[in-house]
Amino acid sequence: MRLPHNFWNTLLLSIVCTIIYLLLRSSYSQTSVPLKSVQLYNNETKINISILGQDDGSRRKKDVKKKDDNSMSCNIPKLEINGSDVVQFFHAPKPINCNKGENWVYIDRDNKIQLIEERKDAKCHTQSIIFDTDAHNNMGPQEPLQVGKELPSEMVNVRCSQGGKTWELPLISLQKVKKETKTSEKKRWSVLMMSFDSVSQMTFRRKLPKTAKFLEEELGTVVLNGYNIVGDGTPQAFIPILTGATEEELPLTRKRFPTASYVDDVYPFIWNNFSQAGYVTMFAEDQAYLGMMNYRLKGFKRSPTDHYARPYFKQLEGRHGNTNAQCVGSDIQHKHWLRYARKFLEAYQDQPRFGLMHHCVYSHDDINLIGLIDDDFSFWLQSISDDGLLDDTILIVMADHGHRFAKLRETHQGQLEERLPFYSFALPKDLRATEEGEKMYKNLKMNKDRLSSPFDIHQTLHDILDFPADLTTEQSVKSRSLSLLRPIPQSRNCDQAGIAPHWCTCLDWKDAMTTQEDKRLSTQIAGAIVEAFNEQLRDEFKICSRLELKGIEYAKKLIPKDDLLKYKNVKDKDGFVADLSGKTKAAHAHYQVKLSTAPGRGVYEVTVLFDFVTRHLTLDLASVSHVSRYGDDPHCIIDRNYFLATYCVCYDKIGATQ
Ligand SMILES: *[C@@H]1O[C@H](CO)[C@@H](O)[C@H](O)[C@H]1NC(C)=O
Ligand SMILES: *[C@@H]1O[C@H](CO)[C@@H](O)[C@H](O)[C@H]1NC(C)=O
Repeated sequence: MRLPHNFWNTLLLSIVCTIIYLLLRSSYSQTSVPLKSVQLYNNETKINISILGQDDGSRRKKDVKKKDDNSMSCNIPKLEINGSDVVQFFHAPKPINCNKGENWVYIDRDNKIQLIEERKDAKCHTQSIIFDTDAHNNMGPQEPLQVGKELPSEMVNVRCSQGGKTWELPLISLQKVKKETKTSEKKRWSVLMMSFDSVSQMTFRRKLPKTAKFLEEELGTVVLNGYNIVGDGTPQAFIPILTGATEEELPLTRKRFPTASYVDDVYPFIWNNFSQAGYVTMFAEDQAYLGMMNYRLKGFKRSPTDHYARPYFKQLEGRHGNTNAQCVGSDIQHKHWLRYARKFLEAYQDQPRFGLMHHCVYSHDDINLIGLIDDDFSFWLQSISDDGLLDDTILIVMADHGHRFAKLRETHQGQLEERLPFYSFALPKDLRATEEGEKMYKNLKMNKDRLSSPFDIHQTLHDILDFPADLTTEQSVKSRSLSLLRPIPQSRNCDQAGIAPHWCTCLDWKDAMTTQEDKRLSTQIAGAIVEAFNEQLRDEFKICSRLELKGIEYAKKLIPKDDLLKYKNVKDKDGFVADLSGKTKAAHAHYQVKLSTAPGRGVYEVTVLFDFVTRHLTLDLASVSHVSRYGDDPHCIIDRNYFLATYCVCYDKIGATQ
């Protein structure tokens, strides 16, 4: 058989393409989706380039982004989901296996207790689990289990026996309490905070993509890109959120000191303000032994909120072991967790409520496991939204901080991610439809790219409780706590926001021409940029001259502050004193280079992203600005391809401008 000539051509072409593809793939990073990737050699050093925003054939010149020249304001880092120095830490988690457990008893959809078929003849009794102190539960008297009824109290321990076998498990199901409703003229908006331990914004997007999509696309959730932590650990996030102050500013509550107070004796928790205003309150953490107010601090003397789940989780850990509490019998724990939260919303539909749920059990010690909740959590959100339970509720989905594992923290992106947790607000549609709500939503969207902190969340919660009269005047940076529902000044910096330098993720522009090493790299980058320009002109070399780098006016790089890169850990037990002996190097940086080219009089200002590890440069042509006037240098191309006028110097103009 004779194959047609063009078969061989095609085959040859495919082989060549495959080889080129494999060569390219072996060296370029996975951090962006290049429209085009070319390899360039300059000064014997290879820089790999991705060029974004190339001419799509239309003659329209791309809009040049205006650059932000407010040097005092915060440059919020933009992180990549697959950042080259962290991507290795992430993989799909193994499902948690709860098959070793048994559930003789379960709570059905109507909140009624049922026995499973095989155990329907079991003899069971219950004991209420009652708060005594944070450190100790009281147990109520034994009562026979009433199948088909609701649990006799919110938290119970169930014990059963049948045929010589026994079984025991604590169960939780929210039970409505009587709370006087305050009659108020104004409409009260409920607050539900669903918090996750140790999840950066990037990890939330990596591990809970369905949830992120539902939040943003269905609920109009605003995710804060500039939300920066102010200290190391869960209390360092929640004390400012709940009280507006830091632990050091408040009276001593650290339990290893004999003079320490209980937190509820001395901390002005904001849920008290909500409670006074007639809100039903709830506070639940799914790991008692790691309790944010218990692990290092003395905890609560009294039950702090109308609903307080700690006694239940304490009992569960006593039964299953601290770290085994990911299962409730044969169920995955988060099903009970989400059911409890839903019940809280359902039980008080005609009363305002303030609820805070903090999840630890997957995410505290593992960076991938949190992905296991994505399906159920996004479904749960969908169902409470469909059932109208969010109609009057401001939903805050958040994390306290990012991961703190040593290996990840040693990386530049890991350091930034630790400081940039996921933080989001969803304002209900009904609120957004009001005049005030519309303004608040607009402000929130504007503030999402401004610097914010846990102190601001505190002020925002106060604003939710009492809407401020003025929603348009920019707040003064003199105050440490600014509301996210009112305008936050763009010029705000870490110092004004109460963020210490080693926590501050705002990036600084540094001169990239000072040391020999800096100079060499900046020159290589500038050379690569000019090569990328030539790449645009490639099909037009007949009429446009190839460009060369003539000079560099300046090169600056945007990198974290020295103290942040040096931050290694804390020196003391309480996490107050920073150890700044670390040696993390920035793994990537934005470079801003002002360069001139020859022939002609081209002067360009270009911002690129450079990855030091993979030596990969990402150039978005939309960020190239031709700052000199190019006169009629490109006259031969301008009518044909306006896009290329930025780069083209026609041959007949070369003599004229040299
Ligand atoms: C990041 O990597 C994952 C897994 O390889 C991939 O599915 C995803 O599309 C990547 N995301 C981006 C934005 O490159
Ligand atoms: C919150 O409650 C505390 C204690 O009752 C009170 O001192 C404080 O002024 C309240 N704050 C606001 C903003 O209502």
